[in-house]
Amino acid sequence: MALDGEYLKEIEAARKDLRQLLQSKKQFSPIILRLAFHDAGTYDVKAKTGGPNGSIRGELNNPANNGIKVAVDFCEQVKAKHPKVSYADLYQLAGIIAVEVTGGPIIPFVPGRQDARNQQDRGALPNPNGDAKHLRDIFHRMGLNDRDIVVLSGAHTLGRANKDRSGFDGSFTENPLKFDNSYFVNLQKEDKPGLVKFPTDKVLLQDPAFRRYVQLYAKDEKTFFAHYAESHKKMSELGFQPPRAVVKA
Ligand code: HEM
Repeated sequence: MALDGEYLKEIEAARKDLRQLLQSKKQFSPIILRLAFHDAGTYDVKAKTGGPNGSIRGELNNPANNGIKVAVDFCEQVKAKHPKVSYADLYQLAGIIAVEVTGGPIIPFVPGRQDARNQQDRGALPNPNGDAKHLRDIFHRMGLNDRDIVVLSGAHTLGRANKDRSGFDGSFTENPLKFDNSYFVNLQKEDKPGLVKFPTDKVLLQDPAFRRYVQLYAKDEKTFFAHYAESHKKMSELGFQPPRAVVKA
């Protein structure tokens, strides 16, 4: 893939299409955001393997990716119109637009990710039954820190868990198509029928280092949005060196 003016034009056209599609079909936004996380979240900062490289489309039989085929299929209509755009860029751009159309922060997007030549499931994705050590093991392996863990968990403001996919059932917040700080507000409240909290969600309240961020984001949505945008950009660029010379369109 050559990162030239032609490519940048395709990216802007794909951005427009994704925005239009997701605005009229908001219900796809949560699973698209999950797709972006699961493509990027295999990154291993030491081994320099995995990361946002489009390989997830060959990894859909990993039980952690149950349900994500819906999002991969959704993105195919955009890939068909803009075949030059790499899957790696397409999935990360789609994740950013999913946050945008549901009312979340605007996250800057830098194009130029290459698709992996081989499908390569590497670093494991987080297990919802894990403890604080598990969360740190998984996210620190990606090169992300404690604040990234908590703020990115706020993505659970969108969407739901499904019995046939993860074994859990219910949405995380009352309005699963609105990106706001209600995930953190709910986390501090008693469990409510119909709403779901994973053991890994509850860990964020139990661990003192995690808890101070939960408290901050529950009372200050502006700071949540600012930190979320920063960490999401970092997640979308794990192992990615943005090309230095970009020919302007
Ligand atoms: C902190 C560790 C995390 C764990 C253990 C975890 C686990 C899960 C599980 C088990 C589900 C339910 C899947 C289903 O039953 O359909 C889910 C849904 C979801 N996750 Fe996470 N997740 C984590 C972090 C993240 C991050 C960092 C993001 C994005 C930045 C994210 C985005 C989502 C979204 C948007 C959904 C809803 C999907 C839908 O509605 O279909 N998650 N997650």
